[in-house]
Amino acid sequence: MTDPPAEKRPIAILGGTGPAGTGLALRWARAGETIIIGSRDASRAQRTAAAIQARVGSSANVSGMENSAACAAADILMLTVPFEGQAELLKQLKPAIRPGSVLIDATVPLASSVGGRASRPLGVWQGSAAQQAAELVPKGVSVVAAFHNISAELLNGDDPLDCDVIVCSDDAAASQLTRELAAKIPGVRAIDGGKLENARIVEQITALLIGLNIRHKGHAGIRITGLPPTSYR
Ligand SMILES: NC(=O)c1ccc[n+]([C@@H]2O[C@H](COP(=O)([O-])OP(=O)(O)OC[C@H]3O[C@@H](n4cnc5c(N)ncnc54)[C@H](OP(=O)(O)O)[C@@H]3O)[C@@H](O)[C@H]2O)c1
Repeated sequence: MTDPPAEKRPIAILGGTGPAGTGLALRWARAGETIIIGSRDASRAQRTAAAIQARVGSSANVSGMENSAACAAADILMLTVPFEGQAELLKQLKPAIRPGSVLIDATVPLASSVGGRASRPLGVWQGSAAQQAAELVPKGVSVVAAFHNISAELLNGDDPLDCDVIVCSDDAAASQLTRELAAKIPGVRAIDGGKLENARIVEQITALLIGLNIRHKGHAGIRITGLPPTSYR
């Protein structure tokens, strides 16, 4: 018996009703992926899913569920919630996360979480938001840090992006899976960024990008140059 095609396994986007989650959902639904939008409110998830489905068309496979139901229905979890909600949500979802799942974390710890500026990074005891997530998921769940430096506004548009996605994880297979998903977004190149501890640096770049966006009124992204062609996916 052969395995089902990769696109048939769902990706649950937790906090998928915000701009980062809907943008990723839109791009992956267009690429043929099966998407579950997660929310604290099932009806909000369903409304967001219906809007994405309507934009992509009848070929799309997008549904909406409360976050814990979304976790229970998928082995690939994409976390797109503000830093101030990340730890509490993961504690709440822990019993619903399936063993062997991959959790891709896009959380950026910004000072705005504690009343400061969005252009300043916030220190996290564990080193990064992704390392905090790794402490909170059940044993055997792999955490990957990715998609921090990609503009949600551009993701929610129709044009190809002009941006690289640096992927950090201590699990090589989970990192590769995430790079394959990133490369499904038109214009995005995915790069292996090494261990999860490097997420600290990648997360902090976002604070700089937000500052650049404010100063120059744009949607900044990053491109890494000078690596061998095989380093880019
Ligand atoms: N926006 C960007 O350009 C961008 C780019 C890269 C990375 N990121 C990062 O991705 C994450 C999401 O960004 P976003 O702009 O989409 O954020 P957001 O709109 O503030 O939040 C996304 C969703 O998270 C849920 N949420 C909000 N507060 C929560 C809490 N306290 N506990 C649990 N769930 C909560 C909400 O969904 P429900 O109310 O439906 O549950 C909300 O729609 C952030 O960590 C951000 O730093 C953002």
